[in-house]
Amino acid sequence: MVIYLDNAATTFPKPPEVWQAMEHFMKNIGASAGRGGYRRALAAEEIVFQCRRLLGKLFNIDDATRIVFTANATEAINLVLKGWLNPGDHVITTAMEHNAVWRCLKTLEKERGISITVVPCREDGELMLPELEAAFREETRLLACTHASNVTGTVMPVQAITTVAHQYGVPVLLDAAQTAGAYPIDVQELDIDFLAFTGHKGLLGPTGTGGLYIRPGFDLRPLKEGGTGSVSRLEYMPEGLPDRFEAGTLNMVGIAGLKAAVEYILNQGIDRIRAHEEELTARMLAGLEGLPGVTVYGPRETERKVGVVSFNLKKLAPEEVAYALDEGHDIMVRVGLHCAPLAHKTIGTLERGTVRASVGYFNTSEEIDTFLAAIKEIIEISS
Ligand code: ALA
Repeated sequence: MVIYLDNAATTFPKPPEVWQAMEHFMKNIGASAGRGGYRRALAAEEIVFQCRRLLGKLFNIDDATRIVFTANATEAINLVLKGWLNPGDHVITTAMEHNAVWRCLKTLEKERGISITVVPCREDGELMLPELEAAFREETRLLACTHASNVTGTVMPVQAITTVAHQYGVPVLLDAAQTAGAYPIDVQELDIDFLAFTGHKGLLGPTGTGGLYIRPGFDLRPLKEGGTGSVSRLEYMPEGLPDRFEAGTLNMVGIAGLKAAVEYILNQGIDRIRAHEEELTARMLAGLEGLPGVTVYGPRETERKVGVVSFNLKKLAPEEVAYALDEGHDIMVRVGLHCAPLAHKTIGTLERGTVRASVGYFNTSEEIDTFLAAIKEIIEISS
């Protein structure tokens, strides 16, 4: 039995509907959306329209034209940070961010002279809310925050964060890379201004897909310029969404797959997906904590986290554990810093990194038990 536990990097497998929709598009449609009036071009346009509409339904977004397709969450985050921040602006972020946010902010600090405040988090990744309150300044223009850590799974208190930020008139960018599709997101209830998401993780779609929701009233500079298939006489990007931010031919095959994936998720129901992943996570946490010499990072209460479990064994380096799991047991996990050095600094693992096992909707309890038995065996052999 081959066991895939790297779903925080990208989910696997995908529902058959996803690759079937992609194959159908390649074989039978194959046209570019918004670039032709013939029937197959219109069929392509319909797929894009429906994908946007379904995403709007999933995230409770009334006007789906405010969802812009991007290549991934990183591009969506770059679009907001580079399209919104100006020299002299101040940004608040957290000590659990992924490099998608952090590297972009550091580059803007160097190139545009923005300033950054990193709000500290506790050792389990929990945000220190009083410190957040103290971080706002006159020139604060944005709060950029992960929804859930890709290292510990810790879910951020989004409602509390947006409430505080909006009291200071500061918009919030939420990086939903680890939550979209696997955890409920309601942009209206959570009062989110910018929602960046990827298609290939919890949404169960193909790589190369993702998007950004932009709340009405926010005017960003486009990240790229080019053809949109609309108002072509204009020498600049059109004002209207989504065209303003979608220069160039869209990833049609990817969007066809993403549409099928979102349909699949809506049919299954987010609550069911979340309940299954929570159950698997609880099983994994309980099993790991019962083993000698295992240090688990992040919250123990599954309601405070997504299905991401970071841990270390006393006697082996994370790389050795991953190698033993792969070679000896056909179990796939990710090790190292997971592109999130800030988070590792917060939890005290910047030097060593961690072993990360992350569950997905298609994992089973039996697979978790096999994984735990493998870890037990690895511990025994190394003792
Ligand atoms: N950010 C992804 C991960 O956590 C790739 O593995």
